[in-house]
Amino acid sequence: MKRKLGIILNLFRSFWAGLVKRRSLYQLNFTSGTTTWRECLMVFSSLLKLEPIQNGKWISVFERKVADLLGVRYAFTFSAGRMALYAILNALDIGDGDEVILPGYTCVVVPAAIIYAGAKPVYVDISTEDYNIDVTKIESKITGKTKAIMAQHTYGNPSNVGAIRRICDRYNLVLIEDCAHTIGTFDKGNMLGTTGDVALFSTDHTKFISTSVGGVATTNDELIGQRLKGVYDDTPFLGKRAIMRILLQFIVVNVLYDPRLYFLGKHLFTIYSVFGLTFFMDNYSEIKKPVSYPYPSRMSNIQAKIGVSQVNNLQKNIEHRKTIYLKYKTIFKGFKLKNTSDAPLRFVLEVSNRGEWIESLSPVLAMESWFDSCAQGKKGNLEEIEYKNGECPVAEGITKRVINFPTHLKVRTIDVDNIARRLNQSLLRGIINEVKQND
Ligand SMILES: Cc1ncc(COP(=O)(O)O)c(C=O)c1O
Repeated sequence: MKRKLGIILNLFRSFWAGLVKRRSLYQLNFTSGTTTWRECLMVFSSLLKLEPIQNGKWISVFERKVADLLGVRYAFTFSAGRMALYAILNALDIGDGDEVILPGYTCVVVPAAIIYAGAKPVYVDISTEDYNIDVTKIESKITGKTKAIMAQHTYGNPSNVGAIRRICDRYNLVLIEDCAHTIGTFDKGNMLGTTGDVALFSTDHTKFISTSVGGVATTNDELIGQRLKGVYDDTPFLGKRAIMRILLQFIVVNVLYDPRLYFLGKHLFTIYSVFGLTFFMDNYSEIKKPVSYPYPSRMSNIQAKIGVSQVNNLQKNIEHRKTIYLKYKTIFKGFKLKNTSDAPLRFVLEVSNRGEWIESLSPVLAMESWFDSCAQGKKGNLEEIEYKNGECPVAEGITKRVINFPTHLKVRTIDVDNIARRLNQSLLRGIINEVKQND
């Protein structure tokens, strides 16, 4: 009761603040930035037309689209990127007693999937240049039990897959590309996700393209493709009620997280979730394979239909991110910039006092502290995911300083100007104490 009252009070407070300071009504946020009202209508009309909820024709259409985009033979959809990874590990027969090398700066769902498969995640520190696995530190972590190395393209920054490929070839290991933060972008002429043996993508609403929640496993390797197909054929769908929640959440989030409504929408969404209407995947207070729904499970038909629309819009999405990236780059000239992709998922900076930045920019941008843990989504007890404190000192340092800005389709260049204005005011007034490097 106390919590519900608190939420309602916050709602009124926000509404009042919005009325008093009309300039602050428009507030950007991080999620669902690539989804459109047209897609919401599409979901609505698909439901009205009673299109199949679980299996249906759109799944293979979406899978073909992703495979063609990457120029690979196989693409299989799942309910999340983490489940795509789990299916990949199953297909590769990676399990009890095996080890998988990954960067010590990732999302908790990645080591969790490795642990659910029965294997052990082995962390390698990252490079300060691009936040990706430090290739020079990989070989010292390889043992007789190592079966695969994960190359994660953090924030869309290309990992050095060429060098990792050579290590994999030398030790006969599988190269898994974690492309959760990108799709359709290139490094030295190669599309990310096509150099490794197998790749996973995320289509969660916080990512490059969105199907609300979702993920895809892709490969050009015939044997891995056939094995993945075997795993996929045995993978069930989520229950119809869970899928309905996902679809409803897709529409609700698109409406309530619209920057014009977000100042109120965020509170309305909290009320929506208090009533248990949201679909949340996992709780990482402990690392246990979920039992309340099938893990892994397949992506549903109407989500795949959204996916088709998202891929059709991908070039516009990428061009937009490039434009916004360039704009950010101009206003943050002199700060410690950390993007090595020109179409990043987020624009990234390292700052000395993140709290001041978040607070100061909040009227225009509901900034989140994303990737502020070596395992995003899990703050303490990292030993549960086999991470020892101090194991990746570079990553640990970065988690304290990193701050990131959205580049999605709902960010307009005028919003970046507004951010610049607030930033300059805050720097002048000493609200943000940050010294530019090359001024
Ligand atoms: C680096 C990385 N890999 C994999 C995933 C898993 O994606 P999903 O949330 O779709 O399971 C995430 C999710 O944030 C991620 O950040």
